[in-house]
Amino acid sequence: MKELKDVLKFYKEIGASFLEIKYIDPKEDLNDLNKEIKSCTKCPLYENKKNYVTGEGSASPEIFFIGEGPGATEDQFGKPFIGKAGQLLDKMIKKMGYSRESVFIGNIIKCRPPGNRDPLKEEVEACLPYLKRQINILKPKVLVCLGRVAFNNLMGGSYSINKVRGEQFEYENIPVIPTFHPSYILHQRTKENISKAKWAMWEDMLKVLDIIKDQKA
Ligand code: URA
Repeated sequence: MKELKDVLKFYKEIGASFLEIKYIDPKEDLNDLNKEIKSCTKCPLYENKKNYVTGEGSASPEIFFIGEGPGATEDQFGKPFIGKAGQLLDKMIKKMGYSRESVFIGNIIKCRPPGNRDPLKEEVEACLPYLKRQINILKPKVLVCLGRVAFNNLMGGSYSINKVRGEQFEYENIPVIPTFHPSYILHQRTKENISKAKWAMWEDMLKVLDIIKDQKA
C-alpha cells in the first residue's frame, strides 16, 4: 500500500493529471500545503501575482467560505477577502455569531487573475486540487460557495447562482450551500436591490446555521 501511495504521489508531483489520480494524504498538514501553494508554478498566474493567497482562518472551522480568487487588495496583502467584498463577508460572519478567525476563508484559485477576470479552465484545473486538499484537512461542517464561479468549479457544472442559492448540495459528504458573492451584492444598481440581495444571502446563512445546529444535536 505504501508503495502504491508513493507511486501515486510521484505521478501527482509530476502533474500527471491525465491519469485522474485522486490521491489525498489523510495526514496532510495545512502548513505543508501552504508552503507547496506558495511555490506553485502550475499555471501562468503566478508570474504576475504579488502574493499567493492561500486562505486563512481556524484549523478546525465549522464553516469554510469559498470565493473565486484574490482581487487587487488580497493580492497586495496575501489575505483573502479583505477588500470591500471582504468587509461585507466579515459582517455576515459576525451576524452569524462567528469571527473571521473561527471560520476558514479560501478561494478556488490562489493567484489574482489579471483585471479580476473569471479564472480560465486551465487555471482552475491547476489550482482546484489545493482547495480540495484544504477541505480534506480542515473537514468543515459546511462549505459555503460564494457565487457562481466558486460553486460551479467545486461541484462541476454551469448553474446560475440565482437558481441554486440557498439549496443544499454535497461535496464528499460535506453539505454545500451556494450563495451570492459579496461583490455581486455590492454591484447591484439600486439600494433596494443591494438590500434584497443582502437579505437573500442572510437567508442562506440561516440555512448554514441550521445545518450546523442539526449536526450538533
Ligand atoms: N473575491 C474573491 O472571490 N475572493 C477574495 O479573496 C476576494 C474577493
